[in-house]
Amino acid sequence: MKRSIIVHGGAGYIKDLPAHKKGVEHAVRAGWEALENGASAQNAVKTAILILEDDPAFDSGYGSYLDLKGDISVDASIMLSNGNSGACSNVSSLRHPIELAIKIMEETDHLLIVGAGADALARRWGMKPEDLRTEKEIIKHKKLLKIISGKAASDEKEYYTKLRPFRDLSDTVGCVAMDDTGAFAVGLSTGGMRGRLPGRIGDTPVLGSGFYAGPSGAVAATGHGEKIMRHVSSYEIYRGIEAEGLKASLQGFLARSDIRDLDIGFIGLDKDGEPVWGHNSAHMSWAYIRDGNYDIFK
Ligand code: GLY
Repeated sequence: MKRSIIVHGGAGYIKDLPAHKKGVEHAVRAGWEALENGASAQNAVKTAILILEDDPAFDSGYGSYLDLKGDISVDASIMLSNGNSGACSNVSSLRHPIELAIKIMEETDHLLIVGAGADALARRWGMKPEDLRTEKEIIKHKKLLKIISGKAASDEKEYYTKLRPFRDLSDTVGCVAMDDTGAFAVGLSTGGMRGRLPGRIGDTPVLGSGFYAGPSGAVAATGHGEKIMRHVSSYEIYRGIEAEGLKASLQGFLARSDIRDLDIGFIGLDKDGEPVWGHNSAHMSWAYIRDGNYDIFK
């Protein structure tokens, strides 16, 4: 028996740690139960992420962060150890973008579909937009607008400086699972960063940056997307597995002088199903179950 599963609920400064604890525990237990009932790694990842997308404690699905205009657009991705992958980005107000990413993987010849094209596919496959804005995020957005008002047009530098405190970055949900056949899957889902410019795309749908899966394991990222993408982070960590193992590769990556100050974090499984996690952000919420043994962030 090889099964193993790890989830994360985002990296950054997490204000409501109890809500994150409850949410990641619920998701990892549901994903584990699916594996125990014979689900593939892909379906276990989907099971866990659907739960996290429904939970307003997390920046994905219901409760997603709003962009500068006050709109919600979401990104998601999936990748399997056989190299199959699918992702969507800038999709309007979809509660479960992980389902769209999986359909893109299964039904199209493409890896990533964005914007109006992704919206059209979602409608075609019966996925309807919903109002996913929570009271909490509407209030945050109003405060953000007050603080930056006039700055975007007049002084771009000042606008970004003013925006920074709103980027608590406890963003993105992710899951990596291994099933009894030894196959891996990794999935991610996010509402992106608060106050981002409309059209901005982070790491979550970008293969190699936000996620990577192969025969030796799988890695999922969270945190500041631009920083994750600049270092092609998930593939960079995956690539070290053969030489030094996943744990050492992740620890070595996070300790690098150009990485150690970044608000980013990762989870992963190595080819024996051993869970690994690590972050340079203030917090990262995670939980895993392997061989029935459960652990969660402190
Ligand atoms: N890590 C998600 C994002 O930056 O959009």
